[in-house]
Amino acid sequence: MQYDVAVVGATGLVGTKMLEILTEKNFPVRNLYMYASKKSAGKEVEYKGKSYKVIELKKENILDKDIDIALFSAGGDTSLEFAKYFVEIGAVVIDNSSAWRMDKEVPLVVPEVNPEALKDHNGIIANPNCSTIQAMPVLKALSDRYGLERVVYSTYQAVAGAGIQGIMDLQNGLKGEKPKKFQYDIAGNLIPQIDTFLDNGYTKEEMKMVNETRKILSLPELRVTATCVRVPVETSHSESVNVELKSDFDLKEVFELLSNTEGVVVEDDTANLKYPMPLYVAGKDPVYVGRIRRDYSNKNTLNLWIVSDNIRKGAALNAVQIAEKLAEMGLLEGAE
Ligand SMILES: NC(=O)c1ccc[n+]([C@@H]2O[C@H](COP(=O)([O-])OP(=O)(O)OC[C@H]3O[C@@H](n4cnc5c(N)ncnc54)[C@H](OP(=O)(O)O)[C@@H]3O)[C@@H](O)[C@H]2O)c1
Repeated sequence: MQYDVAVVGATGLVGTKMLEILTEKNFPVRNLYMYASKKSAGKEVEYKGKSYKVIELKKENILDKDIDIALFSAGGDTSLEFAKYFVEIGAVVIDNSSAWRMDKEVPLVVPEVNPEALKDHNGIIANPNCSTIQAMPVLKALSDRYGLERVVYSTYQAVAGAGIQGIMDLQNGLKGEKPKKFQYDIAGNLIPQIDTFLDNGYTKEEMKMVNETRKILSLPELRVTATCVRVPVETSHSESVNVELKSDFDLKEVFELLSNTEGVVVEDDTANLKYPMPLYVAGKDPVYVGRIRRDYSNKNTLNLWIVSDNIRKGAALNAVQIAEKLAEMGLLEGAE
């Protein structure tokens, strides 16, 4: 089977990575359409050595095409305005923005964790927030074995999470220039705010982690809290995760369980100073977990350190894996 694919936001950080991952995976692409804003229309974008002209994202440029899958990474407002036209022509939209993640009609999917949710899609599937995605395979394995009581996230999020402009702010900041994307200098600094503040004192990013964790794990009552911090790291989010389980555990068994979890690599050898770090995880597919230890201050509780490439597993890779899973489950129309 081959598929007609649209990449919406093809000139952006996530869009570019999607094209790279489609190439790496040799995804069966028949026709490819690259969309971006008016600003980039007509520019050339490469895929497998061939040049494609960027198409301006507007209704008439969608309705005249035949597209099976539309991979969206062009911001929430763009998704809200244009995804419906792709659905109208029969495409399945896989959306990287937060536009529909909490919509009851829209599956929110990490393919290794809750693929069964894909069966209920109505044309749109949401890719979770990057910092949520990377915790999911680990928490799902712990949830299935021991049950989850409470999760405390503290994140250390890379500037790539804020797109190309975020990376520019770090690189230019290191040369002494003022930031354009972030409100404060990021070079030599930490910013304890990602996205805007809500009335409850949390940021939107923090509440995304709370709500999306509950939805993906189908645990609507799970006690979850989060503090999200932007750090001067280019790529890969890191997070300290404190997990209270419903039953006690044997630490050796936890190591074994996580070592055998799909998409997870245990990197934990403190005697040899081995633990995951963002610089070395960037460019890799799995979720890395280390510093696995008992929290002696609370019963049945674990401390974990989870690191993953936020542009790959946190965005582009997860989206392409959703497309692959849809195809595998027979939920995607294509051409022989
Ligand atoms: N970076 C991450 O870690 C990450 C992770 C998960 C999800 N996401 C989500 O993915 C989306 C893109 O993020 P990014 O990091 O790739 O940002 P980015 O590097 O700034 O790229 C944004 C892309 O969206 C396009 N775009 C913007 N406004 C548009 C419009 N009105 N019509 C059509 N295209 C438009 C841009 O096209 P032009 O070149 O024409 O401006 C560009 O291709 C966002 O929704 C973000 O929340 C990002």
